[in-house]
Amino acid sequence: MKKTYNIAVVGLGQVGIYLLNELNTKKKSIETKTGSRINLVAISAKNIKKKRKFKFNKKIFYTNPLEILKKHKVDILFEAIGLSDGVSKKIVEKALKSKIHVITPNKALISKHGNYLAKLAEKNNVNLEFEASVAGGIPILRSIKEGLATNKISKIYGILNGTSNYILSEMENSNQKFNDVLIKAQKLGYAEPGNPKLDLNGFDAFAKVRILSALAFNSKISNHKCLMEGIEKIELKDIKIANQLDLRIKLLGITELKKNQLFETVHPCLVNKKSYIGNVNGVMNAVILEGKPVGESILQGEGAGPGPTSSSLLSDLLSILRGNIKKPFGTPFAQLKALKSYNINNYTNSLYLRFEVRDRPGVLSQITNRLAKYKISVKRLIQTPDKKTNKATIVIITHKTSEINSKNCLSIFKKNENILKTPTLIRVLG
Ligand SMILES: NC(=O)c1ccc[n+]([C@@H]2O[C@H](COP(=O)([O-])OP(=O)(O)OC[C@H]3O[C@@H](n4cnc5c(N)ncnc54)[C@H](OP(=O)(O)O)[C@@H]3O)[C@@H](O)[C@H]2O)c1
Repeated sequence: MKKTYNIAVVGLGQVGIYLLNELNTKKKSIETKTGSRINLVAISAKNIKKKRKFKFNKKIFYTNPLEILKKHKVDILFEAIGLSDGVSKKIVEKALKSKIHVITPNKALISKHGNYLAKLAEKNNVNLEFEASVAGGIPILRSIKEGLATNKISKIYGILNGTSNYILSEMENSNQKFNDVLIKAQKLGYAEPGNPKLDLNGFDAFAKVRILSALAFNSKISNHKCLMEGIEKIELKDIKIANQLDLRIKLLGITELKKNQLFETVHPCLVNKKSYIGNVNGVMNAVILEGKPVGESILQGEGAGPGPTSSSLLSDLLSILRGNIKKPFGTPFAQLKALKSYNINNYTNSLYLRFEVRDRPGVLSQITNRLAKYKISVKRLIQTPDKKTNKATIVIITHKTSEINSKNCLSIFKKNENILKTPTLIRVLG
């Protein structure tokens, strides 16, 4: 006899409502592929009267998701409310404790409470699945957990936030400033209308980096203080200069083992325009993984949006229906390592530095002397004077230097009256 799994979906926003429609239209194919039936027993959102894109059965609607667990026997719960705390954490916690499998796209929840929730899932012998929390429709977590399971992964990096990537690409294509492109992104639904901050300041990409690290390095989700910068300070001017230098700016998430210590970061990076990563544009995401013996693997696809997200949510569902009871991070929680943090001061990169200065004799030498004092050698220098304003733009590409060295070197320029604003610093990949 075919087993029937009772399903509940909490959160009927962009993701939840699209998922409901998918569950409905793919019911037969899910049954054929897994040999199990699914039966939607309850749904939940805050406002029952809200107009939604797809039809749903109001008889099974709850405004309090916690009520569902009191009234129904649920086997699998989808949490698509969002945020790391509050009702989303409560319902996931309660479900796992009640031996209900949980599937969620909520990276904020997993990156903050993943260790605790994974332990809870294992204790209760149920699945906690979160494929959709990283890179939308790209099956990166399952690839690490299954396809690449025996590899020794040394580094994962990539474009993990579609909103930022769209804004950077569109600034270059349309020659428009950051704020104008942000408005466009909001109109197109690529950036949140109310508060796009978490996409733009690097936080969203950083939550994904933390999840990737845990899976890649068989470690607990870290809570180290890390280097996190978003794209808010990127100016059209930098995009144009980068273009002239055959470079392109990308917001990269990076996680790496350096001397067995964990190094996680998110920051804008200058990459070669002809490189693979330099050509991942618009809302696309890409993840590049380096491992042994597999070598370099690349996965690219749509990193957000209800369609790609639902694709990952359904892959989690099928995994559960096929009876794959797994450890949330691939390795039993008790055997996950607590990795030490790599010292950020030692992070080494070539730098792009842009100085806006008064066009006076001696200003350039003040800058280069200061760099020389810190043994930062210049690879390339472009000076563009503006005769009308008596100002000049000086762009310097340096050879590699450490984070602490560049910080100490640049700090003095804040006090220099010939230097009109804090110098722009963008790290160069490679
Ligand atoms: N959107 C994407 O492209 C995307 C991609 C990847 C991952 N995700 C993740 O997916 C999750 C959901 O995102 P979303 O874009 O679908 O969010 P959303 O559109 O804001 O939807 C949130 C849903 O949660 C409901 N909700 C809020 N508070 C609730 C409460 N106390 N009780 C019951 N329901 C409540 C809302 O109800 P009302 O509708 O009644 O207001 C709404 O239906 C988030 O974790 C997000 O990070 C989203």
